[in-house]
Amino acid sequence: MAQEVFDRVAALLEEIEGATAETAEQVEAFRIRYLGSKNVLKPLMGEMRNIPNEQKPEFGQLVNKTKQAAQAKFDALQESMAASAGADAGARFDLTAPGEPLPLGSRHPIALTMRRIIAIFERIGFTVAEGPEVEDDWHNFSAMNTPEDHPARDMQDTYYVADGLPAGANNTAMLLRTHTSSVQARTMEHSQPPIRIIAPGRVYRNETISARSHAQFHQVEGLYVAEKVSFADMKATLLHFAREMYGDKTKIRLRPSYFPFTEPSAEMDIWWGLETEHDYRITKGTGWLEILGCGMVDPKVLENCGIDPERYTGYAFGMGIERQAMLLYNITDIRLMFENDVRFLKQFKSVL
Ligand code: PHE
Repeated sequence: MAQEVFDRVAALLEEIEGATAETAEQVEAFRIRYLGSKNVLKPLMGEMRNIPNEQKPEFGQLVNKTKQAAQAKFDALQESMAASAGADAGARFDLTAPGEPLPLGSRHPIALTMRRIIAIFERIGFTVAEGPEVEDDWHNFSAMNTPEDHPARDMQDTYYVADGLPAGANNTAMLLRTHTSSVQARTMEHSQPPIRIIAPGRVYRNETISARSHAQFHQVEGLYVAEKVSFADMKATLLHFAREMYGDKTKIRLRPSYFPFTEPSAEMDIWWGLETEHDYRITKGTGWLEILGCGMVDPKVLENCGIDPERYTGYAFGMGIERQAMLLYNITDIRLMFENDVRFLKQFKSVL
């Protein structure tokens, strides 16, 4: 009786030691049979009562040895499984399978518009110039012929960065530039004509934020200074720009305006049309849309920046980029451009 139980355990031990597995399923079957909650070794301990006392220790040792063998075998089978999976990986790698798509970002509509404007002017010989966003009063206002009592200098309109600075001329006061015209002054003070630059960048004004205006926005400035530059040159250049930007049939008109740094000054409108209710709304019923300010550089500005106004003349212009972006992409709320909600950004597919 006892011998028969001993033989059963010995047979199981032999079985365990000789076990092999070729698949993960076979390893799992091994685990269930010898180590699972209803494994075949479990009932053996119950046989203890049929074993004569003097043989009990020997029997217990044999059962334990068998259990340990089962665990060791299982570990070995698992390990060899993992190793062969690794060796096989190369063979199973399908080189013809389609790749994982890499999500590609897209450019912000402000960047797209800015690059488009820059490209138009670069093709006709303008180069890009830059200046700081934290600017001094001189380059933002005084050099640009802005009178001491000009309302733009007011704290209500301009963000001053150092504390306690009074509104009004103080050439060293620091501020967030209110326009890219400051780059005109910076460029002219360290170079001589011919000068032909465009200056894209961010500007700041103390405005109440609404669907139409924001306290930060972007401009592109243009400046051309050389001998015999005329108002007609400016008009031809701006007409070319308008047609490249909005289509080759685009009509423009120049309305007299005022800027401290240009004389004469003008604002340029493009003919937008009055076909839809939307057209009525954005052109306030006129069909014309204002897109930029411009004029002949005031001789006083040339002088302030070390350029001989007797010898040279020039024109300058400046435009808001958000406004153009809103026109190009039919965006009705400027705030969308600063919130950076991906649902908005994703709609601009171009990556150019
Ligand atoms: N700086 C002006 C503005 O911010 C635009 C402008 C630039 C006008 C150059 C004339 C010449 O509105």
